[in-house]
Amino acid sequence: MSILKVIEYGNPILRQKSKEVIKVSKKIKNLVMDMLDTMYHYNGVGLAAPQVGENLRIFVIDVSDPSGPINPLVFINPKIIKKSGAINSYEGCLSFPKAYTNVRRYKNVMIKALDINGRSFIKEAKDGELLVRAIQHEFDHLEGKLFIDHCRNRFEANQVLAKYNLPPIEEDELVSEDFLEEEIIEYEKAHPEEVEKRNKEIEELETRD
Ligand code: NI
Repeated sequence: MSILKVIEYGNPILRQKSKEVIKVSKKIKNLVMDMLDTMYHYNGVGLAAPQVGENLRIFVIDVSDPSGPINPLVFINPKIIKKSGAINSYEGCLSFPKAYTNVRRYKNVMIKALDINGRSFIKEAKDGELLVRAIQHEFDHLEGKLFIDHCRNRFEANQVLAKYNLPPIEEDELVSEDFLEEEIIEYEKAHPEEVEKRNKEIEELETRD
């Protein structure tokens, strides 16, 4: 087991579409173990194979409380089979050291994938919880998409990227999400306290070392 080098934003590998895993071989299992080691080492919530230089359809997630026991989830050849609702979520990524920005996501997803033993499973994640957001974020990596492509405010996102010397947003990668945006605006109008809480959390994340 080893800690792998995490590829940073700007590297074209992160923009490539990943290939299906043909067989969950010993080699694939070793890669998954290394990805888990790497994710835990960098205190990440998720990590996708392209981030360690392998354009394969694999990602790992652990949304459990860092002070408790670990709960690694492995997704091989995942397919999102249902999605609904909309939320605003601020996200970061191990390939974007320290940069966080507001993004649009679905609120509920259902995903089908293979586990580390090559067995098929279905997982449902709801109510905009961390797992819902992590699944969408990591799934995107397999499509060559990145969280900033879902940013709600380009200006704000570019400011954050510039602050950490990361390349600016690639305009042609931005995803058009008018439906999600409308739903988010409606929700936030009704819940201003949540907006305030989230902005505070972002501020704390940005000042943390
Ligand atoms: Ni990421």
